[in-house]
Amino acid sequence: METGEPHICNDHHDPVCVQQGATLGLEIHSIIAVPLYAQDRCIGTLGLMNRTGAVFPTALFDGDEDGLGDEEQDLDHTIQRRGFDASDLKLLSLMAGQVSRAVATTLYRERQEKANRLATIGQMLSGVIHDFKTPVTIISGYVQLMAAQNDSGVRREYADSVLKQFDHLNKMTKEVLAFARGETSILFRKVFLHKIADELDELLRRDMANRGVEVHIETQYGGAAKIDEVKIKRALTNLARNAAEAMPDGGNFSVVIHKDDQDVVFTVSDTGPGIPPEIRENLFESFVTVGKEQGTGLGLAIVKKIVEDHHGTIDYQTQTGQGTTFTLRLPIEQD
Ligand SMILES: Nc1ncnc2c1ncn2[C@@H]1O[C@H](COP(=O)(O)OP(=O)(O)OP(=O)(O)O)[C@@H](O)[C@H]1O
Ligand SMILES: [Mg+2]
Repeated sequence: METGEPHICNDHHDPVCVQQGATLGLEIHSIIAVPLYAQDRCIGTLGLMNRTGAVFPTALFDGDEDGLGDEEQDLDHTIQRRGFDASDLKLLSLMAGQVSRAVATTLYRERQEKANRLATIGQMLSGVIHDFKTPVTIISGYVQLMAAQNDSGVRREYADSVLKQFDHLNKMTKEVLAFARGETSILFRKVFLHKIADELDELLRRDMANRGVEVHIETQYGGAAKIDEVKIKRALTNLARNAAEAMPDGGNFSVVIHKDDQDVVFTVSDTGPGIPPEIRENLFESFVTVGKEQGTGLGLAIVKKIVEDHHGTIDYQTQTGQGTTFTLRLPIEQD
């Protein structure tokens, strides 16, 4: 890592062998190390120690033209110490290239994820602050009542109510912070579904109209549910995009939001050609895509993941030439 250059030594007196040996509590007679690079930065090394190799008695190969030997000969070798050489270096450098790429990709993904999380918090910040207003208003009310109250028993009741609101604030803060730290990938908040419906309408209407698709959004239940609104909107827009892509000559796309017992249900329909029969079995798996030049087959896998993160379910019904309906069912409350 210091030099950023590959290193080979085949001498147990070499300081690198001595130092590594002391660290690992091993006797080291040979060592090879190549640097790992991620975006021009040396992030580590890949090293191997104590090279051994099979040594075949040369006599056994006499007259063995194909050079493969037979089974008995294969077994008849000894393992001996030897040094690392240029061909080891070549192989290890190849492996280091793969490892570097894997590490660089992971680092990049982690950074991206962090940026996404922060962006989500940014998008939700006004909502989070809005959520804080309710308990803060209640606290302020009780404190004013307490100031005018002589009866210590009643004051205690007010104090309990205030403390309950502080618990509530604490819980909300913790949820946001856990999300920021990446401990949870989902940020549940109480959201009104009529707001989701309005925003979805705004997100989709123009884009879908340009593709000749008419959008209908019907809010039979506009009340509250505890969901990650950014993720749910992403799921619904993914479904909308699929529907639009399936209906190049236009059609109808509709979302109906209703409540069923303890669940909020999104029924998402289109009047397209239906899901191709060959992928109906594994529709929600990653990289399942049919009939799209630019398709990666991740859209529905992401939708399913979002629904499952909400402890909900997703099903679909489809009829060739008639259309497709996805049903997303999410619990209104999360515990
Ligand atoms: N509403 C729909 N009507 C007809 N076929 C659909 C519909 N939704 C999805 N499909 C089919 O299911 C496949 C998988 O969809 P998915 O969204 O997972 O991937 P994709 O759209 O191909 O690629 P990506 O979403 O990653 O860009 C699509 O390729 C398409 O063939
Ligand atoms: Mg898609």
